[in-house]
Amino acid sequence: MENRTVIITGANSGIGKAAAIKFAKEGYHVVMACRNIERSKKAQKEVIDTSKGDQVELMELDVSSMSSIRRFCTEFKQRYEKLDILIHNAAYFNHGEKTYQFSVDQLELTFATNTFGPFLMTKLLVDHLAKSEDPRILNACTTNIRYFFDPKRKIEFDNLQGELKDSKPYSVYINYGNSKMAFLMLTFKMADVYEGAGIKVNAIQIPAIKVSRETIKKLSPGYRVIASLQSFISDSQESMGDTYFHICTSDEFKEVTGKLINDKREIVISSHYGSGVKDVIKQFFDKNVYPTYADDQEVIEKVWELSDRLTSDIAK
Ligand SMILES: NC(=O)c1ccc[n+]([C@@H]2O[C@H](COP(=O)([O-])OP(=O)(O)OC[C@H]3O[C@@H](n4cnc5c(N)ncnc54)[C@H](OP(=O)(O)O)[C@@H]3O)[C@@H](O)[C@H]2O)c1
Repeated sequence: MENRTVIITGANSGIGKAAAIKFAKEGYHVVMACRNIERSKKAQKEVIDTSKGDQVELMELDVSSMSSIRRFCTEFKQRYEKLDILIHNAAYFNHGEKTYQFSVDQLELTFATNTFGPFLMTKLLVDHLAKSEDPRILNACTTNIRYFFDPKRKIEFDNLQGELKDSKPYSVYINYGNSKMAFLMLTFKMADVYEGAGIKVNAIQIPAIKVSRETIKKLSPGYRVIASLQSFISDSQESMGDTYFHICTSDEFKEVTGKLINDKREIVISSHYGSGVKDVIKQFFDKNVYPTYADDQEVIEKVWELSDRLTSDIAK
């Protein structure tokens, strides 16, 4: 592989680590962007040993912290002439969390990690991506956004900095789904905005995948049982890592941009189902459609404007 570089955020466990192994095996220069260097050294060694790749670097990045993102991007640009592939894989999703959590910048942590951080990081790396002959961005999304088939479900814009923390109980599941829906909307808009620079931007709709050992260890005993059950019936992290690789490198997806792609590597389209009972049931089981809410231009603009304002406002 001729001098092609990929950044994978959260590459120290789960799908991110599996993807790092795949890219390294295929001869890519892999930058594992992880928040805890000491803890991630073991993962880096595993990636190197398994892949036999000799270009696997570990760099510090807390994707929920705007200053950490700025530091990472500055350092990356000093070390590398260009970037070919950017994979926003890291995410915050703490099973069972019932208390509002905030980032160092006082943003609600799910949105800071899963939406605003990747937005800023992309913006800061766009010029480096534009130097690649085939630049691609992949955003990790989830089947959890399918709850937006419920027409009442909306992103809670009035609570993104925990404004309602004294009146509204926190649900990590709702915030996770909201942050990933917002991220999908950013994917659509990024594809338009960065089209001129030749950058292809897509999102991957990830279903339940085996939960990594590292993540299971972080859970409370009850959730460990649920996560172990999920792992028993789900696809492997390796198969999803291979899918990341395919979307980011294959000719099949070379010209594809602004799409949501499922784990079967099919393009997911906006739902065409009506509101009758039969349609609602069919829609629920159809993994090839996403909720039309994701196409709402007004909401897309709002997510974009908010991401831009909040990440610019935060001290440089
Ligand atoms: N597994 C599934 O069933 C599933 C389903 C749908 C979607 N997804 C999506 O797939 C992606 C990968 O998930 P996974 O299952 O592989 O999860 P995982 O094993 O828990 O890995 C998540 C990674 O994100 C990192 N991370 C979290 N917050 C971070 C931060 N602030 N800065 C930098 N890194 C951070 C974690 O680092 P630490 O080790 O430091 O915590 C970890 O490396 C996520 O975007 C997730 O939302 C997964």
